[in-house]
Amino acid sequence: MDLALAGKVVLVTGGSKGLGLAAARAFAREGSRVVIASRSRENLAAAQAALAAEGLEVATVAADFADAAEATRAVAEAERPFGPVEVLINSAGAAKRTPAEDLDAAAWKAGLEAKFFPYIHAQDAVLRSFRRRAGAGAGADGRAETRLPPPRQIGAIVNIVGTGGRIPSGTHLPGGSANAALLLSTLGLAREYAPYGIRINAINPGFTLTDRIEQNLALEARRLGISRDEALAAGAAATPLRRYGEAHEIAEVALFLASERASYVVGALVAVDGGQSLAL
Ligand SMILES: NC(=O)c1ccc[n+]([C@@H]2O[C@H](COP(=O)([O-])OP(=O)(O)OC[C@H]3O[C@@H](n4cnc5c(N)ncnc54)[C@H](OP(=O)(O)O)[C@@H]3O)[C@@H](O)[C@H]2O)c1
Repeated sequence: MDLALAGKVVLVTGGSKGLGLAAARAFAREGSRVVIASRSRENLAAAQAALAAEGLEVATVAADFADAAEATRAVAEAERPFGPVEVLINSAGAAKRTPAEDLDAAAWKAGLEAKFFPYIHAQDAVLRSFRRRAGAGAGADGRAETRLPPPRQIGAIVNIVGTGGRIPSGTHLPGGSANAALLLSTLGLAREYAPYGIRINAINPGFTLTDRIEQNLALEARRLGISRDEALAAGAAATPLRRYGEAHEIAEVALFLASERASYVVGALVAVDGGQSLAL
């Protein structure tokens, strides 16, 4: 299936590692013009070199998306090499896992700052850019003047959120609460921006093998008094597909949701979790 993503300008926050890096690789393979963003220049350089070794070229922007001004600056910088961003893959999050009995006010606040605000700041900055391109459709107050959608897609956003936003995990309550807020804001913004030709959707990955998952395994092992490998096996056994996900499996769904093949998909919260969160 041709997703018609060649030449599209794609910004991937959190693109230096894990799910973001897998998304960057997938879009670059489709011929998109990809900019990856994260805080550490070293991580960005390592990711850029790894992709270059596969014959894939990406540009980089270093920024901490927890800071709204930095997010605005990063989007402006990302637009310099290739022009306006057309797709945002939001994957820059790092909420720390904390057992429920260790939670305090600082841990709750840190969860929102590490997960909720980086996504919201990136999304706000990209939405301002999308709105400028939507042009005639947008009124002075920034709202759509007409309910007639433009004939083509102005932009698409895919927020990589997490099943922890729908199903509580005892070691991930601040991050999970941030996820729940992101799912709600995805739905609300999707409805408000669809009239501009802007589609916003989310993916809820289940346990997916990235650097982050090691932190999760260590905590689960401690909580249950088992080894890391036993925790890994228990997680796989609790998944209907009997295995963890791989980062490229999340990226494949992000490609589709961002593409105009998904032209009527708005505000979908797509579980990509091997069946971990099956529910009506
Ligand atoms: N892996 C899973 O099983 C899973 C499941 C559900 C949801 N998720 C969610 O998916 C997202 C990505 O997870 P992952 O497993 O790919 O994590 P990861 O391997 O730790 O990668 C996180 C990426 O985000 C960047 N980052 C973190 N905070 C940032 C900030 N404030 N500003 C800019 N960049 C930032 C990191 O780079 P720097 O350190 O260089 O900034 C890194 O590139 C997270 O939000 C996570 O909660 C993951």
